[in-house]
Amino acid sequence: MLPPRILGLLVLLFAVQGLCKPTKSTEDLNYEDDTPFDDDNEEDEDEETDNVGTAEMPPQILSRAMSVRVKAGDTVILPCQVVHTDNYVVAWLKDDKYLYFESQTYTEDDKRIVRLPNNSLVIYNATVEDSSNNYKCSILQNPHSIDLTHRLLVDENPRQESTPPQHSHKGIIRVRPSKKVEVNQGHNITLGCETDIQPPPEIKWFIENKKVDGYDPDIILDGNYITIKKVNESHSGLYQCLAEDGSNTPAMEAINVVVNYKPKIEIDRIVYSGAGIESEITCIVSAHPVALVMWYKDDKKLTQKKGSILMYHRIMPNSNKTKHILKILHTSARDFGEYKCRADNTIGHVIRSITLTGVPSQPKISGAEMTDDAGIILKWHLESYSPISEYKVQYRKGDLKWNIIEPEVKDGKGNQFTVECSIPKLRPGSYEAILKARNEFGWSLDSEPHTFSGDYPPDLALKKNSATVRSPGTFLVLLLVVLSCAFTSL
Ligand SMILES: *[C@@H]1O[C@H](CO)[C@@H](O)[C@H](O)[C@H]1NC(C)=O
Ligand SMILES: *[C@@H]1O[C@H](CO)[C@@H](O)[C@H](O)[C@H]1NC(C)=O
Ligand SMILES: *[C@@H]1O[C@H](CO)[C@@H](O)[C@H](O)[C@H]1NC(C)=O
Ligand SMILES: *[C@@H]1O[C@H](CO)[C@@H](O)[C@H](O)[C@H]1NC(C)=O
Ligand SMILES: *[C@@H]1O[C@H](CO)[C@@H](O)[C@H](O)[C@H]1NC(C)=O
Repeated sequence: MLPPRILGLLVLLFAVQGLCKPTKSTEDLNYEDDTPFDDDNEEDEDEETDNVGTAEMPPQILSRAMSVRVKAGDTVILPCQVVHTDNYVVAWLKDDKYLYFESQTYTEDDKRIVRLPNNSLVIYNATVEDSSNNYKCSILQNPHSIDLTHRLLVDENPRQESTPPQHSHKGIIRVRPSKKVEVNQGHNITLGCETDIQPPPEIKWFIENKKVDGYDPDIILDGNYITIKKVNESHSGLYQCLAEDGSNTPAMEAINVVVNYKPKIEIDRIVYSGAGIESEITCIVSAHPVALVMWYKDDKKLTQKKGSILMYHRIMPNSNKTKHILKILHTSARDFGEYKCRADNTIGHVIRSITLTGVPSQPKISGAEMTDDAGIILKWHLESYSPISEYKVQYRKGDLKWNIIEPEVKDGKGNQFTVECSIPKLRPGSYEAILKARNEFGWSLDSEPHTFSGDYPPDLALKKNSATVRSPGTFLVLLLVVLSCAFTSL
């Protein structure tokens, strides 16, 4: 039986794979869904984004179901040879939990349980816990997945006797509720360490080796117990209790707390790119249990396509974050638009949108320079992967009418562009200026308004007629920094 969450996920997966055709399946399943090799390739010709190469051939699993029995410590290979799956996701599941989604891992044991390039699943150093009647290799397609189920039984290795309990101080403390506590975010937890030591020692608590001093309002210390209300992911860690009995080797115990929490996603909201180049969209996910991450474009699920769309992820060092990367190898205008990154785990899901665009980046002010003859020169910096065709500067005093200047378009250095705009003859007052840039894909966002004063500071005003004499460096720079820029008035 599929748990409701997995069912929901699968329903979702299938729903968004609507463009994939029903296809022939392996003989042990899906007998009712038996569309034979008809040549309904009407969507193949006009739908240029999806069906390339072998799309006409139905995906298939060639490997046969196996029942494998091994001893603990052995290596197991569960085969799943597939064909015509370029446009489909192939996943490995154990007891309906994802192990692999294509090459993306959903098991923390991914050093020991490995998906080979030929899609076989290898389990090294098998343990009794690896036993299951439900190792499923699954081609996720609409309306029914194509599945192959293997069975694995791992026998306890008789030579490997369990070590007798150590008679150390450890046994003297009993932890409550257990040595490993898994809790969902938002719940309260109470951890305890109980002991028979006489006289009753003082119990000291450490979280990740830091002593709990009782000053943290979120952590309630009560004798041998510690309570945390409404846990979140920051409360995961090793909680240790120490029975302070005055000896050199006080008894100690530890409780490993794991907080399950809804995925969190960090993104760059806008990604700038251009025609013919490679675009990279990233989505940094943190979650426990590990999240299943999917990409959507215009609400249609994206799948890996050799030579055009790559999806992969990297575990980020020293954090529990995973960087999910969507690479579009040869970006074209139709690739621009809204992308969504969706992360799902047992606690919930989160979706964030990222816009991939060809327009120039939002310009950023990079300098303001006062000249004696040309008024103020404002400089902006921006990026564009296509040639700039036009700039527009708007400036105004207070909230009066906007004035418009169209600065000259100069060649950039690669994709880096600098814009210079001189604004002459300003009356005293407070001004703001905005720049936007256009290329073949349209206008950029407006720059943040840059505000500046139209007044000359008093002792610069004295020099305003000496055309060739520059004001002394540091003082001028200081003033410019403070005021951004200053002006001669009409
Ligand atoms: C298998 O176990 C051996 C011995 O315990 C260890 O050296 C080896 O690294 C393990 N291999 C994997 C893939 O976990
Ligand atoms: C997959 O690759 C592994 C290692 O290269 C090999 O042992 C196994 O036989 C291959 N399986 C199939 C079905 O080709
Ligand atoms: C956590 O404790 C608070 C205050 O004691 C209580 O109101 C709340 O219902 C508890 N929450 C859960 C999930 O038990
Ligand atoms: C976790 O909860 C504590 C309060 O109990 C709060 O100070 C902290 O900001 C929370 N952290 C996150 C990541 O939500
Ligand atoms: C990652 O998560 C585990 C368990 O959830 C926790 O013990 C560990 O401290 C976390 N690591 C970091 C760097 O946050």
